[in-house]
Amino acid sequence: MHHIAIFASGSGSNAQQITEYFRTHPDIRVRLILCNNPEAYVLKRADNMGIPSYLFNREEFYTSETVLKVLQDYEISFLVLAGFLWLVPDYLLKGYPGRIINIHPALLPKFGGKGMYGEKVHQAVIRSGEKRTGISIHYVNERYDEGDIIFQASFKIMPDDTPESIAEKVHALEYRHFPGVIEEVLKKKI
Ligand code: GAR
Repeated sequence: MHHIAIFASGSGSNAQQITEYFRTHPDIRVRLILCNNPEAYVLKRADNMGIPSYLFNREEFYTSETVLKVLQDYEISFLVLAGFLWLVPDYLLKGYPGRIINIHPALLPKFGGKGMYGEKVHQAVIRSGEKRTGISIHYVNERYDEGDIIFQASFKIMPDDTPESIAEKVHALEYRHFPGVIEEVLKKKI
């Protein structure tokens, strides 16, 4: 059985989709949700779904390895970042080599990097005059949004699109593809 941990910083709608998708899966289960923000709605979602959550702060994350210890205690074998906004520290990259993936709400390598999250990404995409936008699922390395890309999907930007409408379309694409892509990646690791 693969045990997934999901890292999220905000609403956690992807975390919920992924958790529900694998609820009855024969080989894969979401076992833990980790969060850096005590106000994040994802913590409520975790409670509602009956999934344990672990809240940590910046100091703990970057100056100790307690998060790794927690992941090991839960026998986690794979990490999914779903709306998680902090850079992943070295001890986690070493603890989970090739076993951490992230979703980004645009077509990388454009529109990524530090500070590029949520609405800021969609504003930048609209300002740039790009014709299409979408989602990128990629391995995580020591730099923001630069790991190898696993999967992308896109849609055409309409003249009346706003950051809000793009966020909605991006979320729809994320819900449609992210759980299945995780499943495919894990199948190769069984
Ligand atoms: C998602 O659209 C995800 O791609 C994005 O944050 C949103 C989280 O939504 N991630 C980033 O911007 C990372 N740079 P959710 O909390 O409802 O799943």
